[in-house]
Amino acid sequence: MINGERTIQRPMRWGMVGGGRTGQVGYKHRTGALRDGTYQLVAGAFDLDAERGRDFGTNLGVAEDRCYATYQDLIAGEKDREDGVDVVSVATPNFTHFEITKALLEAGIHVICEKPLFFTVEECEVVAKLAAEKNLIVGVTYGFTGHPLVHQMAAMVAKGMLGDIRIVDMQYTHGFNAGDDTDAGEAVKWRTNPATAGNTFVLGDIGTHLYYLSEVVLPHLKVEKLLCDRTAFIPSRAPLEDHATVLMHYDNGARGRLWVSSVDAGNMGSQKYRFVGSKASVTWSDSRPDQLIYQVQGEPEQIMHHGMPYLEDESLAADRMGALHTEGLGDSWSNIYLWIAQAIDAKMRGDEEFLKTHHYPGIEAGTEGVRWLENCVRSADAGAAWIDFE
Ligand code: NAI
Repeated sequence: MINGERTIQRPMRWGMVGGGRTGQVGYKHRTGALRDGTYQLVAGAFDLDAERGRDFGTNLGVAEDRCYATYQDLIAGEKDREDGVDVVSVATPNFTHFEITKALLEAGIHVICEKPLFFTVEECEVVAKLAAEKNLIVGVTYGFTGHPLVHQMAAMVAKGMLGDIRIVDMQYTHGFNAGDDTDAGEAVKWRTNPATAGNTFVLGDIGTHLYYLSEVVLPHLKVEKLLCDRTAFIPSRAPLEDHATVLMHYDNGARGRLWVSSVDAGNMGSQKYRFVGSKASVTWSDSRPDQLIYQVQGEPEQIMHHGMPYLEDESLAADRMGALHTEGLGDSWSNIYLWIAQAIDAKMRGDEEFLKTHHYPGIEAGTEGVRWLENCVRSADAGAAWIDFE
């Protein structure tokens, strides 16, 4: 169980690029990072509007001279300070991730970057190489995968409780973009423009969460083939999609089905996962994160609750509240931040043994998300054709 006691040698001196007052995701980073004392927010280039960013940063308690106008200023100001940042989170629109991450790594600073990590697998490989050369960690904030019951599903699959995996069924849909973009805010504008979003909209924006979570639960399965059918119901968003269906064939013969949409009118953004094996299945949704439905063929359905002693150790190790007290997304994010901090801490101590078995979403997970997107686009562009997963 996680109870706030320190598990690393000292708190990370932490900075942020983006995630300013008007940003959607910034507060999730701060709730995740600041909760256990594993990170201390000491610097930032929080906003494209430098003045607003400075005002915001000082309101968060960051010293005025460490609220920078740009990420380049942040790097220049922090690089040679004795108490300079150890790690910086990048919570800016997609098109800036690669350039900012690269610059931070070159300056010797660990990075925690938003998803989708970069535009291409090639960029991911450049950064992976750079991080390895510099001996630095890159973490990726797939923030939903800290939920304890996600790790319960993974442990149950690993123990063979479901049997051989046959069916993977996933959905992440909402209706917030069901109307057109006439009065769209900044966050929708950059998400629907290929120059700022990359080669996908909802696949990258929400589909990568589904894909990474399935990798956590089913680490032994690899996608061999996929078929992606995508469309823009609001024509101004083309060539990017606001709705997509992806079928996948896994290397053990399992079949996957996934749909993502931001035009699912009336849906409030739920994620649903169902993993079906030859003996039993598990179903979990982020809208009921405390409950896992376990169905064994021929037996009454069971509902498992987080924090209960009958759960697997991997799930209990990620639990914060204990049974009876609800878990939430903040808890999941806190776990992601904690696991990345432990990776950085191990890097700093030169503890490569620890890193061999320590699990956190890192450069490989970010790369796999981008690889999956590239394959989806290739399939969709070929007329929703089956393609070999590359
Ligand atoms: P947003 O448009 O709401 O906010 C972006 C923020 O970054 C703003 O504060 C803006 O002023 C600032 N900014 C932009 N360019 C900058 C630069 N060059 N230097 C410094 N600050 C800069 O965007 P949102 O929705 O917060 O998304 C940001 C990233 O987070 C995206 O990559 C998105 O995919 C990801 N995201 C991830 C979520 C998750 O669950 N992991 C949830 C929501 C977004």
